[in-house]
Amino acid sequence: MAMTIDIVPIREDLIDSFHAALDAVCRERIYLAFLEAPPIEEMRAFLRGNMAKGTPQLVATSADRVVGWCDVNPVQRPTMRHSGVLGIGLLGEYRGRGLGEKLMLKTLEAAHRFGLSRVELTVRHNNVRALQLYRKVGFEVEGRKRRAVLVDGVYHDLICMGLLLNADGQAAICKGQVP
Ligand SMILES: CC(C)(COP(=O)(O)OP(=O)(O)OC[C@H]1O[C@@H](n2cnc3c(N)ncnc32)[C@H](O)[C@@H]1OP(=O)(O)O)[C@@H](O)C(=O)NCCC(=O)NCCS
Repeated sequence: MAMTIDIVPIREDLIDSFHAALDAVCRERIYLAFLEAPPIEEMRAFLRGNMAKGTPQLVATSADRVVGWCDVNPVQRPTMRHSGVLGIGLLGEYRGRGLGEKLMLKTLEAAHRFGLSRVELTVRHNNVRALQLYRKVGFEVEGRKRRAVLVDGVYHDLICMGLLLNADGQAAICKGQVP
């Protein structure tokens, strides 16, 4: 499928499309913590707040349709404001071709510019594609939350991962050398 994909910060005119993409991946039930997207007006308010603050909140678009997203939400507690929590997702037909890595590197670069020095995430233990991508960009496993997720009667462990943005190993991200 020939197509041009752009990676851009979220914009007002992309909010509905972002909401639809998030909802679609939530409804797959096997990847995310939510099983459907929050109500659109709640999301609009949240995203407008993020836009105003310059929070790293990127989307991948094809012909102005959101096909993926990656964001890092700063932790609000006063002792943890240097940290952010990363979330990512692509619509099914856009997976498995390197887009996740591009989106992630650009978002980590934005997180570094925003001033964050630590990015963390959790991922279900059986999500091998996501785990592989996270390791590739430098995340390290920091722990395991046993039976943290229960969906459709089945427990899943969550793997906790973290990345230090000012560490030597992250030079490419910190120096803005991301493609
Ligand atoms: C996770 C996600 C963002 C990854 O992005 P992507 O562009 O599809 O990533 P890719 O499949 O191109 O690459 C991921 C890596 O996993 C590898 N991989 C894919 N399937 C694999 C498997 N079954 N076993 C091991 N590695 C696998 C790929 O080879 C690639 O590694 P490489 O670049 O070293 O070859 C995307 O698949 C997605 O949106 N998934 C659904 C939502 C989701 O899981 N979100 C994260 C929740 S924590």
